[in-house]
Amino acid sequence: MMESFEFEGPRGRVRAAATAIGAAAQPGDVIALEGPLGAGKTVFAQAFARGAGVAKSVRVASPTFAIVHEYAGRARVYHADLYRLSGPEALDEIGLFALGADGLVVVEWPDRAGDALPEGALWVRIERTAPLRRRVKLQGEGPRAAALVAAARAAMETAALRRGGSTE
Ligand SMILES: Nc1ncnc2c1ncn2[C@@H]1O[C@H](COP(=O)(O)OP(=O)(O)OP(=O)(O)O)[C@@H](O)[C@H]1O
Ligand SMILES: [Mg+2]
Repeated sequence: MMESFEFEGPRGRVRAAATAIGAAAQPGDVIALEGPLGAGKTVFAQAFARGAGVAKSVRVASPTFAIVHEYAGRARVYHADLYRLSGPEALDEIGLFALGADGLVVVEWPDRAGDALPEGALWVRIERTAPLRRRVKLQGEGPRAAALVAAARAAMETAALRRGGSTE
């Protein structure tokens, strides 16, 4: 069954959702981050890594040139940026999803991977709605994507209640 959840807001709200997803993630989970240049994919990946237990003292930077950066959190965190990937075959050489089987994988520009992304991945689509605001749509198939969507939804609802506002 397809699970989905959508919200909109400033960077703190995007980061809160990403941190909640990182905290709920389990080895084998794959997060695919879509959106144009400057959408906020790296901002999301950084907060995801913090939620997954990567220490604040460790700088999480975009791995554009290295393709994949690896961090130690509760589990290994693999942050990939496929923008410069020459093609889906190059991904086999890197072995991203084999590596990631025992870790948490967060991927920018997942469309570069063709159909190599696992079926149970959580897809995150980020769109700019104003200079400092983004709309974030989460969706995926299967139990792991559903659990991650639920974690983000719960975090967004809790934050809204704290502000005394509605969940919109
Ligand atoms: N609500 C928001 N959520 C996320 N980022 C935001 C938001 N508002 C403003 N920003 C800013 O947008 C920029 C997003 O940059 P980021 O590097 O994360 O984008 P990206 O999608 O990874 O780009 P690229 O395609 O180059 O990898 C940052 O400067 C960030 O501070
Ligand atoms: Mg980026």
